[in-house]
Amino acid sequence: MKFNLKNKTVLVTASSSGIGRATAELFIKEGAKVAICSRNKENLLKTAAEIKAALNIEPMWVVCDINKLPDIENTVKVVKDSLGDIDVLVNNCGGPAAGYFEDMKDEDWEYGFNQVLMSAVRFTRLVLPGMKAKNWGRIINITSVSVKQPIDNLLLSNVFRSAVTAFAKTISSQIGKYNITVNNVGPGFTLTSRLYDLAVIKAKQSGESHEHVLASMANDVPMKRLARPDEIASLIVYLASEQAGFITGSTIMVDGGIVKSTY
Ligand SMILES: NC(=O)c1ccc[n+]([C@@H]2O[C@H](COP(=O)([O-])OP(=O)(O)OC[C@H]3O[C@@H](n4cnc5c(N)ncnc54)[C@H](OP(=O)(O)O)[C@@H]3O)[C@@H](O)[C@H]2O)c1
Repeated sequence: MKFNLKNKTVLVTASSSGIGRATAELFIKEGAKVAICSRNKENLLKTAAEIKAALNIEPMWVVCDINKLPDIENTVKVVKDSLGDIDVLVNNCGGPAAGYFEDMKDEDWEYGFNQVLMSAVRFTRLVLPGMKAKNWGRIINITSVSVKQPIDNLLLSNVFRSAVTAFAKTISSQIGKYNITVNNVGPGFTLTSRLYDLAVIKAKQSGESHEHVLASMANDVPMKRLARPDEIASLIVYLASEQAGFITGSTIMVDGGIVKSTY
């Protein structure tokens, strides 16, 4: 299947590692002009060099803390100046702090709000004029299975990813007339540094090894394994394609079947 993504300008946020990076790589393989961003210049340099070594194309990279509006404005501007108006925006973020209600102070709530919800709102606001002018656009938010099945110790993720889901659904009905789709992809357990860190936290609490925690996570999945980041990226790239032009306002899980609800 040809996805018609050649020369489209794609910005994947929070993408120096994990699912964001895998997504950037897959878009490059499809011939898109790709920009990645994260807080850490060294991580970006390393990732860009590794991608260049593997695919012979180096993504554009921008240092951007997605919790900060000036960084977001700068990122959209420099990507637009270098690669043209953004056709495909993938809103990713780092995982919000883990913890239960009693653990969360106001600062944690405010950080999570900016990290998960406002980053998606702000990037979307800045790319929409260009998408409307071209009468074409794709916005894909990376959320979590937590929007369907809240995870006990991930309160901030449960709350703010649900807000992103409602945001996407609401704006999808207003911008469909410009041929712009907005969708959410919900990863299940995916083997990245985020999952590793969560396993280490859980291991400390339970007294088990983190290897045991990861193995038992995999055992809870009907497919009996953890996802690879590129398996999440595959759906994201499909949703950006011409073929997915009638899918909007949807939330699709890539979770190996772990969410138990039928809808
Ligand atoms: N892995 C899973 O099992 C899973 C499951 C469900 C949902 N998710 C969600 O999917 C998203 C991606 O997860 P992942 O597993 O790929 O995470 P990851 O491997 O930890 O990668 C997170 C990325 O976000 C960047 N980042 C973090 N904070 C940032 C900030 N303030 N500004 C800019 N970039 C920032 C990091 O780069 P720098 O450190 O270089 O800034 C890194 O590139 C997360 O929101 C996660 O919660 C993951």
